[in-house]
Amino acid sequence: MPTTPVTSEPIPALAKSIHIKTFGCQMNVYDSNRMQSLLEKQGFRVEPELRRADVILINTCSIRDKAEHKVLSLLGQLKPLKDEFPQRVLGITGCVGQRMGRNLLQRVPHLDLVLGPDQVDQIGELVNQSLLKGKRTVASKLDESGRSYTQPAVIHRAKPAEFLTIMKGCDHFCTYCIVPFVRGREKSRTVAEIVDDVRRLVEHGTKEITFLGQNINTYGKGTGETLAQLIEASHEIEGLERIRYVTSHPRDLGMDLISQFGKLPKLLPALHLPFQSGSTAVLKRMSRLYTKEEYLAKVAALRAACPEIAISTDAIVGFPGETEAEFQETLELIRDVKFSGTFLFKYSPRPGTRAFALGDDVPALVKEERLKKLQDIAFDYIEEENNAQVGKIQKVLIESMDKKGLCYTGRSPHNKLVHVENAGHATLGKVIDVEITAGNVSALRGFYVGAPRVTTQAISVPRRASAAADQVSAPV
Ligand code: 5AD
Ligand code: SF4
Repeated sequence: MPTTPVTSEPIPALAKSIHIKTFGCQMNVYDSNRMQSLLEKQGFRVEPELRRADVILINTCSIRDKAEHKVLSLLGQLKPLKDEFPQRVLGITGCVGQRMGRNLLQRVPHLDLVLGPDQVDQIGELVNQSLLKGKRTVASKLDESGRSYTQPAVIHRAKPAEFLTIMKGCDHFCTYCIVPFVRGREKSRTVAEIVDDVRRLVEHGTKEITFLGQNINTYGKGTGETLAQLIEASHEIEGLERIRYVTSHPRDLGMDLISQFGKLPKLLPALHLPFQSGSTAVLKRMSRLYTKEEYLAKVAALRAACPEIAISTDAIVGFPGETEAEFQETLELIRDVKFSGTFLFKYSPRPGTRAFALGDDVPALVKEERLKKLQDIAFDYIEEENNAQVGKIQKVLIESMDKKGLCYTGRSPHNKLVHVENAGHATLGKVIDVEITAGNVSALRGFYVGAPRVTTQAISVPRRASAAADQVSAPV
């Protein structure tokens, strides 16, 4: 089994502070946390303000063209910072680094480092080289050996709810998707290594784990282990209270996994199951390997196993050749299934994918209109569902202060963000009973039933903001 060395280079005298800015999915959040922990262990200090950091890393996403543009424009804005202090190290990591590699270094003279997702563990060594020797480096070789890899969690400060990457890559090659090109083929870590990570995280105070993989249902392909086995083994861990996983593929979500919902108490009743399109013809052009009916059958099986399960999803409008009738089928599916959360996207052609050759023939305006129609239906339902929670008690794991520092927030079992008006510091990291008093499309609000109902301050939750307020973007 190949191992990726965790560097133990000496701390350069020059190095003082780091700032990591993250775009993209939870896997990027996980990678950023890992890079930060590795660098902190070497003595670097986290600088909350990007402009003041000695080392600025931008962990990037290339899933849509817009995400890439954001990164390139940010790079442009950072040039004055490099001019002002040329010893400062500026690096691009993640999927844009993988996709653009050396071209990016050539195109952006003020850039020092370009790394791909498989170079996360070399971050200390590469940053040090830039700091000490002024070296400009590209390291974007994908690890293409075998079906397994090892990457024990680096635990610096564990949070109540943690992500844990259990596999990387994807074998599916949906025709619109860049992921298999920038993250390589599927590879899994062993159940033993992951269970050990979970135990260590729990010892550090973690209560909830979300296992991450681009196509997580096929975890263990080629190694003889399965996701269902991993869930069972994790379920045994004393002190671990909640388990989630993301992202599922409708074709690969088998009965072994479906039947665990409602049966294993720690496995939370929530699942992200992207459908992408409600038209079987479009699904075929996307190479999704299931029909609309098969998708609906999976939803029905999940709801039969666990009637309260909250299903969230992704969908794309304006895939090449999408007709009005095909779009209507997507609209219908959204209306019929009633998702608890949605990430809806306009199709964005990605060079190198099979769909790229099909052109981008749905006009921008039509895509915009279709997106808006889907959002209206999807958000109305989510708002209705959240409103219906008023008066009910939800078990909420308190994770942190909200962004404005007004109150503590956490997640319900259904993965809804909950602002708890009267929760004190002592509730941090605990699962508490919260009576819901308000709900809108983006969040719920309520009172901890174990404390006096003192409203601290009015909490404004923006209407129709992202349905997952603290998530960087849709899960991949
Ligand atoms: N254009 C638009 N959306 C895309 N996604 C993936 N690739 C593209 C693309 N080229 C969406 C899919 C996926 C989510 C993470 O991003 O819906 O599930
Ligand atoms: Fe893989 Fe998901 Fe991309 Fe399809 S959409 S290629 S399953 S990462």
